Order: sequence, then structure tokens, then C-alpha cells
Amino acid sequence: MTDAIRPLIAGNWKMNGLRASTAEFEAMLAGAGSVAAKADLLVCPPGTLIAAFADKARGAKNLAIGAQDCHPKASGAHTGDISAEMLADSGAGAVIVGHSERRADHGESDGLVRQKAEAAWRAGLTAIVCIGETQAQRDAGQTLDICRGQLTGSLPDKATSGNLVVAYEPVWAIGTGLTPTSGDVEQIHKFIRELLIARLNGEGAKIRILYGGSVKPSNARELMAIANVNGALIGGASLKAADFLAIAGSYA
Ligand code: PGA
Repeated sequence: MTDAIRPLIAGNWKMNGLRASTAEFEAMLAGAGSVAAKADLLVCPPGTLIAAFADKARGAKNLAIGAQDCHPKASGAHTGDISAEMLADSGAGAVIVGHSERRADHGESDGLVRQKAEAAWRAGLTAIVCIGETQAQRDAGQTLDICRGQLTGSLPDKATSGNLVVAYEPVWAIGTGLTPTSGDVEQIHKFIRELLIARLNGEGAKIRILYGGSVKPSNARELMAIANVNGALIGGASLKAADFLAIAGSYA
């Protein structure tokens, strides 16, 4: 059923990257063609680098530029915030919303994440909606309940495989070197797939579900081979072109 879904390998640079990082990005761009048969690439640098990277990526077949957050409104008196329209104007094609670091550092609720996803669509961007449980929630056996609640609350109606990507990122696996077992990833991604189909019918079967949390070249092949894992959202390992491209190239 999900065999035909083209994988997406997305790099989330978080608050890393200066203009000096352009050379690393150019190496990603140069290598993108070598994985074009296997996957689409998305690089989400800090907002300060979006326009410069997007200019360089113009015309690239399988590498696009994304952002890491947006404000729900298109414009107005919101000091320091960036709207989805501004991101699109800078050359972004997608935006991550509801990353666990935003949820934790900025108290973002499912309702706000939903508004941000709607803002992304209003501006013509793909929304990458992140969900995932904390260690305490996992220890309490609440993983599936948390994922169901976040998905239900964060996902606007009218989601399609063209405007939505879901990223499952267990909070305890982010930046820790820890990953769930393949069996756990398979169970949770299957659960998310079933929720998407229940809500969105046929479209739910086609939406990409990424796994995120300590994805590295050394574990990517195993993780990406799991049913309903349609790519990866990568933090630390996305800062180095060699690692990022190696992960993308790990598709059989
Ligand atoms: P990590 O981060 O790959 O460094 O664990 C993943 C993420 O937060 O998207």
C-alpha cells in the first residue's frame, strides 16, 4: 500500500548555521543528484539562511528548502515572528510545525500547531507536523495515546499527501543517540497510518510519515526499511553533507 510513497529525507538544522555554513549546504546540493532516484531532500536551515540557500537550490530537482516554524498570522504586530508568507517569499517550500523543542521551549499547544499548519497551507507551503512522546509518557505506557492526541489536535482538516508530512519523533530519542526498537517504530507508524486513513481516507494512505530522533548513517538503513517509515527528519546528522547524503543513500 505504501510502497509507492517517495521517501523524504529532511534535515532540521535547528539553531545552527552561519553564512560560513553555505559550503556545507553546497556539498549537499552537489550530492543531491546522486540520491535523486531514491528520495527527495529537504534542508531546513535557520531563517537567516533560507533565502540564500533557496537561491542556490533554485532548479534543483530533488532538494528543496524548508523552515522550522511560522506564526499563524500572515502579518502584523508580532515582534520577532516570521509568517508562512514570508517564508514562501524567501523561497521555502515547507515548514516544520510543532517540533517538540517548540512545544517545550515555547509552550506550543496542539491547537496552535494546527493553526500554524493552516498558515503553511495558506502560503502554499507543505506542513511537516511533528508528534511524539516524552520519556515519562513512554514509561507510563502512554505513547500511543499521546500520539493520537497530538495528531488529532494538531492536524487541520483538508490534509493531503501534497500539503502534509507527519514526523514521529520520540522526544527521548532526539539528540540522545537513543532510538526505539524497530518493532516499536513499526507499531507506532502503523498506528499513525491507521489514524490518518480513518480521518482522511485514501489521502491518509499516501501521506509521508517520517521517523525522527538520532537518525545516523549507521542506523538509517534499518529504520528506513520499516513499514510506513517514509523517510526521516534529521537533526544533528543533517549538519554534515556526508552524513545527510549517506542517510538518503541508505535506501536499498
Ligand atoms: P536528532 O534531532 O537527529 O539530532 O536526534 C531530530 C529532530 O529533532 O528533528
